[in-house]
Amino acid sequence: MFTQTPEPTRVPRRLARRVAGSGLVGALAYPHGVDRYLELVRPRWALHELRAEIVGVRRPALDSVTLTLAPNDLWRGFAAGQYVPVTVVVDGIRRTRFYSPAGSALARGATFELTVRRHADGVVSRHLHDHAGIGTVVGLAPAAGDFVLPARRPERLLLISGGSGITPVMSMLRTLCDEGHDAPVGFLHYARGAGHLAYRDELAELAARHPNVRVAHAFTRAESGEGSDLRGHFVPEHLSDLLPGDGTAEAYVCGPQPLVEGVRALWAARGLGERVHSESFVPPAYALPADERGGSIRFGRSGLAAPNSGATLLEQAEQAGLTPEFGCRLGICHTCTCRKRSGRVRDVRSGELSSAEEASIQLCVSVPAGDVELDL
Ligand code: FES
Repeated sequence: MFTQTPEPTRVPRRLARRVAGSGLVGALAYPHGVDRYLELVRPRWALHELRAEIVGVRRPALDSVTLTLAPNDLWRGFAAGQYVPVTVVVDGIRRTRFYSPAGSALARGATFELTVRRHADGVVSRHLHDHAGIGTVVGLAPAAGDFVLPARRPERLLLISGGSGITPVMSMLRTLCDEGHDAPVGFLHYARGAGHLAYRDELAELAARHPNVRVAHAFTRAESGEGSDLRGHFVPEHLSDLLPGDGTAEAYVCGPQPLVEGVRALWAARGLGERVHSESFVPPAYALPADERGGSIRFGRSGLAAPNSGATLLEQAEQAGLTPEFGCRLGICHTCTCRKRSGRVRDVRSGELSSAEEASIQLCVSVPAGDVELDL
């Protein structure tokens, strides 16, 4: 997958799908399946695999690319705030990453938009940012995730984001505006500086058209340039002008862990911790208790061993020269699940200790607590 589309054929799409889906064609295509052959002619016309063709490319900020995707008929849409698994092939290896659509969930039309922020060490984000073009086909899976607004919309709402975390809350705001939501909504976004600010014009336009919407940008770098309403990282004062009387608001936060934790701590201090809903795009940093540090990791199948550095098992396996499969690196997709033959690990999200000697663990969110042996 992740190919350039050849010139469209002149065969009507519905007819082509009917022919391709017939039992006779299925039998002729055995054992590879019809989709493998359609891939050669018109990749988006897969019968059983969810795919999308890139039909638009924009660069809204220095390190970001916004892709407009036209999915095939298997696509069932998304709820504002959900993420979509996107699969591409980079250097011959299929890789899946998770991106949240930034558009309204109510938008009409057969396309949706993803904004990908380029990370220096992100294989997929670099690939999409640098090489994705019109006609490129990517693999998709159905939208998922429970970072979504409740069916009964809150009376007071704060949407807070940092960096690439803007996309799910942008989708929430656009969806609320499309459905005519008229209760107060504050939108606060943190970016490094003016050059890293995505959706600035769109947000200004939404605030101008909807008197219940207030938008503020905060720049976190001292040299970040003009144009911010606020400076520095999250502090409670940043909220005071945005949504006066925000103490009771329901907050949806997406971004780096310190931002999520800062908002959580503020709401918890008010006794309203359950009103914060969050999603983070990086697993939290985790420090093992002193008596669990050290030890070594044995990679049973490959016969390698390495001292325990305290990083996640996925990182330590990669540092040892292994290439375990992974997808999200966030504990969401379970692609990195591996058998632990012995030893104990802690989950970096909860701190929970898995002490069962033999267990299946997610390498990307597990830190070894002492000696561990993996079936890897
Ligand atoms: S890579 Fe997705 S859960 Fe580990």
